[in-house]
Formats: sequence, structure tokens, C-alpha cells
Amino acid sequence: MTDVLPAAPSTAAPLSAGEIDAVRQRFPILSREVNGHPLTYLDTAATAQKPDVVIEAESAFYRESNAAVHRGAHTLAGEATELYEDARLTVAAFLGVDEHEIVFTSHATEALNLVAYALGTASIGRGAGAAAAEFALGPGDEIVVTELEHHANLIPWQELAARTGATLRFIPVHDHGGLDLDAAASIISERTRVLAITHVSNVTGAVTPLDVLVPLARAAGALVVLDACQSAPHLPLRPRELDVDIAVFSGHNLYGPPGNGVLYGRAALLDALPPFLYGGSMITTVTMEKAEYLPSPQRFEPGTPRIAQAIGLAAAIRFVQEVRMERIAATEHVLGERLLAGLSTVPDVRVLGAGSPEPRVALASIVVDGVHAHDAGQVLDEVGIAARVGHHCAQPLHRRFGVTASLRLSAGLYTTEAELDRAVEAVASIRPFFGLSEGEQS
Ligand SMILES: Cc1ncc(COP(=O)(O)O)c(C=O)c1O
Repeated sequence: MTDVLPAAPSTAAPLSAGEIDAVRQRFPILSREVNGHPLTYLDTAATAQKPDVVIEAESAFYRESNAAVHRGAHTLAGEATELYEDARLTVAAFLGVDEHEIVFTSHATEALNLVAYALGTASIGRGAGAAAAEFALGPGDEIVVTELEHHANLIPWQELAARTGATLRFIPVHDHGGLDLDAAASIISERTRVLAITHVSNVTGAVTPLDVLVPLARAAGALVVLDACQSAPHLPLRPRELDVDIAVFSGHNLYGPPGNGVLYGRAALLDALPPFLYGGSMITTVTMEKAEYLPSPQRFEPGTPRIAQAIGLAAAIRFVQEVRMERIAATEHVLGERLLAGLSTVPDVRVLGAGSPEPRVALASIVVDGVHAHDAGQVLDEVGIAARVGHHCAQPLHRRFGVTASLRLSAGLYTTEAELDRAVEAVASIRPFFGLSEGEQS
């Protein structure tokens, strides 16, 4: 039985107000003002702010150790290689996996494309291990996603299905926003070769019930690919305990720099899959006709990698580990409850997926009756509140909820209750700002 990590592990104490204040001191940007108001940053799901240690780690690399990794005979190249490979060890320890199971990519989007591409060439790609044929897809095979997916975990599978003749199916969501698990039980079948699902929805904030879905995939003999972009920053993430084959996330969501993504893959799977990009640093021998490829992770990291970004991510991971992920989850659980409770008191505001029974992170996407999300976002920006507007790269889910756009408020480990209260107050001011009284249609 797999574990679904609860949004609030009962053993961990939430951070005290003093501890949150100490955390906030480490994020230089949080002391700035926007439009004459203190910045209230509620766009962490789009990208998290960076603590001083991340800014310093990246800049120290350029000041002191900048060199290309792996091939140089000089001291700087050795130092850069050590820092880069140390970053891989830090990520591996964070996830509780081996370091050769960690591939650095440029972002989660690339990691998901890598997996979908490699699966698409499993039977023909040179460099594939003999076991790769087992992962090849063709007509009659099915790839299953959910209606919750971010486009990054949808379009690569659409394209893989189109290239291989496999069929793409999806687990629908109920009107309340939760996944239809009865439908899942009939959709996931012996035809399913891949189940690719988000761990936490970037629109509803709900934690996917992996304890139900993963065993269904296992029984079907399917690979499980987990999009952990919105869980890695908020919940302890242990891919092996969750029994998934692949898990991906972006460094920038986890308080690290942009330009860096993480792909965890089960060793046997990564070593069997053919490469995605081809070039230098990934080979054992090359002739004019062909090449032999190194095992993972090198076979998936050709070219000069994003060295400073990996080092920055390692600094971010050490930072959250000092705070402790369990305590971050417990703190954000309290914040999430407060945000939802506050928003539920505002008339003519609908929280997308508010009725779903799953635990959730501190994130809410709202629709303000009669006001376009972009206009609503501007009202918040006027008072220094940074929120996301649009479809959040989840058009099918917005369509399912009958809207084209929403305004998303998303917290991080630096968010205070007072900030959320301010945001709720600002949301309550949106309709009056546009001259709409309670219940009035525009
Ligand atoms: C759930 C989810 N999946 C995938 C992505 C894609 O991440 P990136 O744009 O960093 O590749 C995001 C982006 O925030 C996301 O929220």
C-alpha cells in the first residue's frame, strides 16, 4: 500500500509567528514595497521567491568556481564538478533516492518531455537498453492522465500518443473538483502503459489520492509518472514510498533558481531508456557512424549543464531541510484552511474545486462573479498583492469548471496569516471596486 502524504502530518508543529518572521528575513525581496504597500507575494505556485543562501550560492559560483564541469584537468573544473555533483547528492538525499537516479534538466517541462520522448523511441532509439522494448507503446496501448493536469503533463502525452498510435485517456473530475475515482478504476486497465498524474493540482491545490491510483496502475503493469511541481515545495516527497517510477519538479518552485529541473527515475528504467538529446558528455565512444552512451544520469545530460542553477537548487533544498518539510507542510496546512475559510465568507466568489474531499496545500483559484480575472488581479496589485491570473496552463480544467480564467492565490513557507487576511479583504473589495453590489450581475 502506498502512502499519501497528508497535507498536515500530525507529528510536526507548525512554525510559530516568530519562526516565520525569521524565515522571512532570509528573503530579501519580501522587504520591498509595491504600489506603496508592503509586498504580499501570493504567486508562489508560479515561482517561489529566493532566500539569501540561494542568491549567494549562485553568485559565489560565478565569483569563485566558474568552469565547465566533468572534463577539465584544472582546479576550477574540479571544484565546479564537485559542486555540481554535490548538488545531485543533495537532491537525491532530499528525495531518498540514489544519485544516479537524479537527472538535471532545464525545468519540469523538459523532464516530462524527456520521458515521453524516450518512451516514444524505446523500441527504435539507439542507446536503448535491451529492457527498453518493454516500455515501447503502440496501437492498443493507453496512456492515462487526469483532467487536472498542467499542460506540461498533458501535451507531451498527447504527442506521444499521436506518434505511436497509442490512445490518450483521462480520469475526469467531479463537479466538486475531486478526481472521479470510480471512473479511474475502469479507465486504468491492462491496456494502460503509462499513468501520468499530478501530485498536487496547480489550480485546486488538492493532493491527488495516490494511495488509490498507484495500486491500480501497478496492477495493470503501467509506469507511473508523477508531476511533483506543486508538491515538492509543500510536502515531504519520497518517490519510492509513493511507489512511482518517475517524479519531476522544477527548482524555481522550490525556492531555487529558474533554469533547473529535476527528473527522478527508477535506475533500471532510466538505464533502459534511450537518450532524449544527443551530443557531448554523454558517451563512452563515438565513431563516424555511431556512439555508445553512458548510463544515467549522463546519458540524459548532454552539453554543458546548468551548473550554477543546480548549485542554487541545492542551497534551496538545504534551506527547506533546515526548516523541515514536515513543519512547512503543517504550517501551510493551517494557512490553507485560513485562506479557504476567509474566501468562503466573501459573497459572489467561487473557489475552484473547493468541495473536493482531498487534503490540499495553501492555494486557491477563485472566480469573482462579473469580474474578469485580469481585472481582479489588478485590484490586488494596486495594494501590493501579487496573484496569478489566467488559466494557469490548465485550460481543460478551467473549461471543466465552466470558466476561461481564474485568480490564483498561492502561499509559501514565508506567507503569514496576516497576509492571507489582507488578501481576503482585498478580494472582498473587488466587486465593490467595479460598482457591483452583493448578488448583482454585471
Ligand atoms: C503542476 C505543474 N506541472 C508542471 C509545471 C511546469 O513547470 P515549469 O514551467 O517550471 O517547467 C508547473 C509550473 O508551475 C506546474 O505547476
